[in-house]
Amino acid sequence: MNANVFAKIVPATCLIVVVTLVLAILLKDGGTQSLTSTASCENWSRADWDAYLARISRLDRFLYQVPEQMAMAVEATMQSCPANVQKNQIVACTERILAYGKQFTASRVGLFSTLMPDDQYLALQPPEAMKLPAELQSAAHGLPKNWRAVANKNGWKYALFCSNTNIESRLVMFLPGQSYDRMLLYFCDGVNPDPTTYPLMQMDVVVKKENGVKLKKPKQYFRTLAFGEDDLRPTSQSSTGGCVGCHVNGPRAIEPRKRPAFPTELGGVENIDQLNSLLVHDEIFDLNLYYDLKTMPTHLQVGRTWGCNQCHDGDRRRSLALSLNLGGSFNKEDIYNKIVVDQTMPIEEGRPSVTPEMRPLIAADIEKDYYEQLSAWLIEHKCGPSP
Ligand code: HEC
Ligand code: HEC
Repeated sequence: MNANVFAKIVPATCLIVVVTLVLAILLKDGGTQSLTSTASCENWSRADWDAYLARISRLDRFLYQVPEQMAMAVEATMQSCPANVQKNQIVACTERILAYGKQFTASRVGLFSTLMPDDQYLALQPPEAMKLPAELQSAAHGLPKNWRAVANKNGWKYALFCSNTNIESRLVMFLPGQSYDRMLLYFCDGVNPDPTTYPLMQMDVVVKKENGVKLKKPKQYFRTLAFGEDDLRPTSQSSTGGCVGCHVNGPRAIEPRKRPAFPTELGGVENIDQLNSLLVHDEIFDLNLYYDLKTMPTHLQVGRTWGCNQCHDGDRRRSLALSLNLGGSFNKEDIYNKIVVDQTMPIEEGRPSVTPEMRPLIAADIEKDYYEQLSAWLIEHKCGPSP
């Protein structure tokens, strides 16, 4: 073979190999599919239904990873072939996909709970526990200028710090109580060590006892407060929500930035660990105000390769499968923050430490694991062999 022919064959062969590989990948994964197109199901067997549901339940393979769209697509497909749906008894094997997806409807009126509008949610909160202490309620920006002295006098604990979250300055206050603890978060964008000027605050109230009786599972109530235009006093607001998605296990550990723009200031505690041990709970929270848990994969063992499910197993702590954003998609930013930015997870019980290079890969792997397990759970009840 002369060199000239060889020079032509090699690139041609390369091209064929590349095209074949691309085709193989596209065919295997179905490429980036559309969730809205309706399959034509008139002549489907039950096995065809199972294959279709297996495909459509892999939300990570679609351009828009929204559970609601998955449910809508399945519903539209079923409506396009009612005779087949009846003949093959498809209702039972699609029930879970439909119930799961539909709870995250984009048209929902509530931002705090998938179950109800915000005004109803706020009305269900215990009024006494949700009240701010008078010293805070009467102050502009919810914080008097002598807030340090007020906190000391009342036995409140606090941390004023630069947070990794959205590069914010934050004041977190812990107000302990007999029946309930109140957690307050004052925050602003950027660097600002004076919390009496922050524009917003959030509140997370943990109810431990009702009518003097200790609850088996503590309850949690969220609120966002803004400051009225005239007197700058705190007033309840419902423009943000989705709180439970990051607070499935209650209040969160605080993690100041590694090289902060101003030093972390603590009150009532000696170090951050001490404050975190007051904030973080080792018990499962009651989430019935937020989700219909019967429609949720409460016990998916997400992150097995990295041991996450040693603790986040659905019994010790909530499964990572409940770490969702408002649309019901996996809260991958929050997981990423814990593993790559804060580097507080995984907690390693007798394991060799993970290297910084591994951390982004671990976060990506956990996301992949989540979508695989979610899909398997969604289609656990097969349509089965055709009658
Ligand atoms: C994207 C995830 C995320 C969402 C959504 C979220 N939080 Fe948080 N929240 C955190 C993290 C992380 C912390 C710990 C603070 C830090 O280190 O900066 C925190 C801290 C808090 C605190 C201080 C007490 C504690 O838990 O440490 C309060 C109060 C709070 N959040 C209330 C809310 C409310 C109310 C909402 C909804 C309006 C909300 N959060 C939504 C992640 C979230
Ligand atoms: C040994 C038990 C243990 C293991 C293993 C573990 N976690 Fe956690 N996780 C905790 C505890 C305790 C907290 C609360 C304290 C904190 O935030 O640091 C927590 C908090 C979290 C949170 C914040 C939400 C929450 O539950 O409060 C996320 C997200 C999280 N872990 C992800 C992971 C991931 C991802 C892995 C695996 C790579 C993992 N965890 C492994 C015990 C564990």
